[in-house]
Amino acid sequence: MDTTSVWRTAAPATGFGMLQGDTQCDVLVIGGGITGVTLALLLAQQGRRTVLLEAGEIGSGTTGHSTGNLYVTLSQGLSTVLSRWGEQVAREVVAERRAAMEFVEAQAQGMPEAAFRRCPLVLYARSVRDQAHVDGEIQALTRIGCPVRREDRAPAGLPPARGAVLVLPDQAQFQPQAYLAQLARRAAQAGAAVHEHSRVLEIDTGARVAVTATGTVKAGEIVMATHSPKGVHLVHAEMPVHREYGVAFEAPPGNTDIGPGIFWWHGDEGLSMRTLEQQGRRYLICVGQEHKPGAHNAKAALMALEAAAASYLSPGPARFRWSAQNYRPHDGLPYIGRDHTGCFIATGFSTDGLTWGTAAARLIAAQLAGQRPAFGERCAPGRFTPIKGARNLLEENLTTAKALFKDYLTRGQKEHLSSLAPGDSALVEFEGESFAAYRSPQGELFAVSPVCTHMGCKVHWNSVETSWDCPCHGSRFRPDGSVIEGPALKPLRRKPIALG
Ligand SMILES: Cc1cc2nc3c(=O)[nH]c(=O)nc-3n(C[C@H](O)[C@H](O)[C@H](O)COP(=O)(O)OP(=O)(O)OC[C@H]3O[C@@H](n4cnc5c(N)ncnc54)[C@H](O)[C@@H]3O)c2cc1C
Ligand code: FES
Repeated sequence: MDTTSVWRTAAPATGFGMLQGDTQCDVLVIGGGITGVTLALLLAQQGRRTVLLEAGEIGSGTTGHSTGNLYVTLSQGLSTVLSRWGEQVAREVVAERRAAMEFVEAQAQGMPEAAFRRCPLVLYARSVRDQAHVDGEIQALTRIGCPVRREDRAPAGLPPARGAVLVLPDQAQFQPQAYLAQLARRAAQAGAAVHEHSRVLEIDTGARVAVTATGTVKAGEIVMATHSPKGVHLVHAEMPVHREYGVAFEAPPGNTDIGPGIFWWHGDEGLSMRTLEQQGRRYLICVGQEHKPGAHNAKAALMALEAAAASYLSPGPARFRWSAQNYRPHDGLPYIGRDHTGCFIATGFSTDGLTWGTAAARLIAAQLAGQRPAFGERCAPGRFTPIKGARNLLEENLTTAKALFKDYLTRGQKEHLSSLAPGDSALVEFEGESFAAYRSPQGELFAVSPVCTHMGCKVHWNSVETSWDCPCHGSRFRPDGSVIEGPALKPLRRKPIALG
């Protein structure tokens, strides 16, 4: 299935060259998403020698597969931060996120393709149980002084509300891929060396050297702006990872366009909805429920999202389908700053990372300039909040442990490998060896080790994106074993297979 997002299909290629040879710099930024590109721009503007290495293309990670919404609150609810950390921190969260949103707005001036627009955020529920969350959010936002409105019906074109509807005015949305591509050009113009198709394969955190297939970078500082930091980091044990699916439908015919806005329908069948006008077409974009990577049926998840959208919104045909994953912090705040490896990391953004990623870049740029922003201390990766996050942490570690030990083998004989049909996959054990096998539609058979190279969990097949996905910390691999995303640096080991 083609899983190019509606954002990436429209934005022109960025065309930055690969790293060639060995180089040195003040700061190496690994990752060309919103965090890395924003940071590279800020560092170049500070006059620092900056290199940005992106494994794929600018935006090809999560940023180019998001929903393009910017807001001061949090998708999990500001009430979670309020109850865990108190009023002062909740105010700081909103202030930091508002400043990041205004930064994006300022950058987007003169970028018509970024399609930045101010709009309201609307949150509502369709059941009594889910209404408690909406009421809690109205209270939380009011308590910290956000100008929230309470309305009694959902906007026209959306399924009806069960109770009060929260309206937070003056939030924003944009075209994340187009914005990022332009920002990367600005970073390069400001002096940053930006390289695409330059995957970092090894990092020597002590010597501050990163190795790619075509060169090395020796840096004074390394920033892992890779969504989840590469290698083994303490934060991996604290961050549940979830995969979400997005679909861009042709907008419903007639006058049922819901207009500009961030529309969150909270609940079991909940959806995040927004509209987009792009290249003369109108779309309705829906993003659905969260799923554990490698522990759900990807096709079923996508079908459920399309079915929910069809029954409640009656959109036109689905034109784009994509998916991406998020990493949720255990105590509600992201992890931004230097961690025990000596590198800077920026992660735990949940589904709020277009704003958090921008905020993280601003905080890290300030820290590298010798400042100590107060909010940076709050988000320090080494913070320890055993009571605030213990329950979540334990539940997640349990899932991780189960995934390590559960036997997911689906077939037991070598004959099955030879009879694997094009497009089919199998986890096979034969003569004491495990294989994760896949036959491409062209007939080529790939067999790799099913053991994730990050910390040894077993990978599972993702039929929508033809990848082997790890349920533990979200590493994903192509059928040939090469890394797509997540903390793993090394590919799954290729296994020779003699089918005779
Ligand atoms: C379905 C979905 C919808 C979302 N919608 C929103 C939204 O509307 N608003 C919002 O605020 N947030 C949203 N989010 C969250 C947000 O998209 C992310 O938190 C944010 O984009 C993360 O940005 P990033 O730069 O940190 O990571 P990424 O955009 O993932 O960038 C990391 C980059 O690092 C590169 N990389 C990885 N490994 C290496 C390596 N070894 N060498 C070199 N490069 C490497 C990757 O290729 C990637 O391009 C959404 C998330 C999901 C899953
Ligand atoms: S991602 Fe950590 S073990 Fe696979």
